[in-house]
Amino acid sequence: MIDTDAYEISNYDAVIVDTYTYNDGEVPEEAQDFYEDLADVDLERTKFAVLGSSSKGHIHFGRAVDYFTMQLNSSNGEQVADSVKIDQDPDEDDLKRVRTLGDYVMKSLK
Ligand SMILES: Cc1cc2nc3c(=O)[nH]c(=O)nc-3n(C[C@H](O)[C@H](O)[C@H](O)COP(=O)(O)O)c2cc1C
Repeated sequence: MIDTDAYEISNYDAVIVDTYTYNDGEVPEEAQDFYEDLADVDLERTKFAVLGSSSKGHIHFGRAVDYFTMQLNSSNGEQVADSVKIDQDPDEDDLKRVRTLGDYVMKSLK
């Protein structure tokens, strides 16, 4: 995300944001500029989905996934799949949920 311009994504039909969570429930430092810029972007024509590696060993499980989901909705994007939080190493069920998320995004573009 450090190389992604939030202002560019309003030109996209769909985006999938993948983020881990750090420092007691925060958006990772390298994603913070991108996250803050999203507040100034109108995603009226952009569909989105969010996923991220997280850890249930922390009290704010996957909170950055929640922050991005809320911000992209606030920025007028259309959420086309439930957000997916993965506890540490992905298991078969996690991979299935990720594939489903991708399927929903692809279907939303037809
Ligand atoms: C210092 C530190 C703080 C973290 N804080 C959180 C947190 O608040 N919430 C959460 O869900 N995961 C938290 N994590 C877990 C990371 O998101 C986790 O390491 C990562 O998702 C696992 O991905 P990886 O296998 O790519 O390292 C934290 C990890 C570290 C090292």
